[in-house]
Amino acid sequence: MKKLMEQMAEELSAAFEKAGYDPSYGKVTVSNRPDLCEFQCNGAMAGAKAYKKAPFMIADDVVACLGESRVFSMAEVVKPGFINLKVKEEFLADYLEEMDADEKLSVNTAETPKTIIIDYGGPNVAKPLHVGHLRSAIIGESLKRIGRYVGHKVIGDVHLGDWGLQMGLIITELKCRKPELVYFDDSFTGEYPKEAPFTISELEEIYPCASGKSKTDEVYRNEALEATHLLQQGNRGYMALWNHIMQVSVTDLKRNYDNLKVSFDLWKKESDAQPYIPDMVKQMKEQGFAYEDQGALVVDVKEESDTKEIPPCMLLKSDGASLYTTTDLATIVERVKLFDPDEILYVVDKRQELHFIQVFRCARKTGLVKEDLKFSFLGFGTMNGKDGKPFKTRDGGVMRLENLIADINEEMYRKIVENRSVKDKDADETAKIVGLSAIKYGDLSNQATKDYIFDVDRFTSFEGNTGPYILYTIVRIKSILNRYQEEGGDLKAGRILSAVNESEKNLMLTLTGFGATVESAFEEKAPHKICAYIYEVSNAFNSFYHETKILSEENQEQKESFIQLLGLTRKVLETSIELLGFSAPDRM
Ligand code: ARG
Repeated sequence: MKKLMEQMAEELSAAFEKAGYDPSYGKVTVSNRPDLCEFQCNGAMAGAKAYKKAPFMIADDVVACLGESRVFSMAEVVKPGFINLKVKEEFLADYLEEMDADEKLSVNTAETPKTIIIDYGGPNVAKPLHVGHLRSAIIGESLKRIGRYVGHKVIGDVHLGDWGLQMGLIITELKCRKPELVYFDDSFTGEYPKEAPFTISELEEIYPCASGKSKTDEVYRNEALEATHLLQQGNRGYMALWNHIMQVSVTDLKRNYDNLKVSFDLWKKESDAQPYIPDMVKQMKEQGFAYEDQGALVVDVKEESDTKEIPPCMLLKSDGASLYTTTDLATIVERVKLFDPDEILYVVDKRQELHFIQVFRCARKTGLVKEDLKFSFLGFGTMNGKDGKPFKTRDGGVMRLENLIADINEEMYRKIVENRSVKDKDADETAKIVGLSAIKYGDLSNQATKDYIFDVDRFTSFEGNTGPYILYTIVRIKSILNRYQEEGGDLKAGRILSAVNESEKNLMLTLTGFGATVESAFEEKAPHKICAYIYEVSNAFNSFYHETKILSEENQEQKESFIQLLGLTRKVLETSIELLGFSAPDRM
């Protein structure tokens, strides 16, 4: 569907051409003087030099050629040569009707859909999800949904961290505590027990304990390194333990992600890349890319244009163990083989940027990927507490994701019960829905690459630029539509008519921005654009609501028009929050 902006530009371009100027000057932008006009064209200013003419003379010629316009109700030249524009009410109403009928609400879908893998979530087995994992999950999930909406084939992969030192640490600590376990008996050839020798809570206690010990005790650390290596070599007992750890841990992770409404198409893990490592390494050696440096196997990835030092990419440690880089490279090999993607997007903490520069360069240089495969890295900033330091619990510990969510839901529950518009038995469920909007909107409304402050009071407020405010607006619309139906009204009847007042026109104009917003949110990997947009729509709607009698409108045709406009506003808002990864309750 042709956007409003495009249609305006087309008319103006034609007028520029008719007046003897280059049509490319006919671009239209949103007005920076909303008190004077809705849109403006600065083409005459830009063309002045080329035509050696005063800009207002060009603008006068163009407006004269515009004549009776299908699109504009006003086209006015103001000195020194701007063309101020207002959109014709009938045209705007027709545009919204067309948008309403469009399955994608005016978003143009990709002509050639791409296969895009998004690597997000990135939790580590046996470590509880903490706030550090929140951003990747929220941002990645939203990008996946936006990508699909604009027509791409998007595959979300959680890429579990299951192959690193943390596994060796857990195994070592288990061995310390329960050396009698059959998993440590090398002579054992029977079947290992089905039941794990630990629960999730034990597992979560074991890891930090082991990690702490390894920092002070070198012997212990070496044992853990050795255990990691043995595991990677496929030691039977360790593999059986690893399987237990995986099962217990993944069940818990899935439950947590479910609560966040985050879901993955693939539950692939670092260890899945293991089978690809030997051949990949061999090839890199044979092709002369990989060489030995102080016992380790490395590939140079620095480039002439580098302004800072990019160290070589390490493939194997001196003991032959693989590293984070190795599994990431081998995962690329696997992804190419299984999905032949056009793009792989990693949504990971921006502090890992150097790692990804090395991995991308190494993959390209050694020919692991076709030339036109696009690697993208969306490095996000840190979620800080009010003190500007990384978010912590009150006593300074790492905040578990589960606890953070529980805190927010509790706060939301308190506010909702205070409002008393929801029956008690719904309040709990509603608090969860609204709580999720508070967390996700609070995060997504910031540009992903920037750090931000997680402010519970602000995020859970029903006023201002928050998730609950957006939901409140949707709930308000839903309740008007419900009342209309209860009074016998038909939600499908009628059509959108010309705006009756400024606030209605403003709402209508704002709604036209949906298509461009979603398209650019995808292009720029910027869900925050959708947040900014729905905040604007909500404000526009609420002004309209306060200034206009909707259900008491006596003219039936006009009332139906309002209802249609409300219906479209609701669709735009609900689709948007769906793209952000949350939903609205029926009441609040
Ligand atoms: N598990 C990693 C971490 O906690 C994040 C994984 C990101 N994805 C990747 N392909 N490296 O830091």
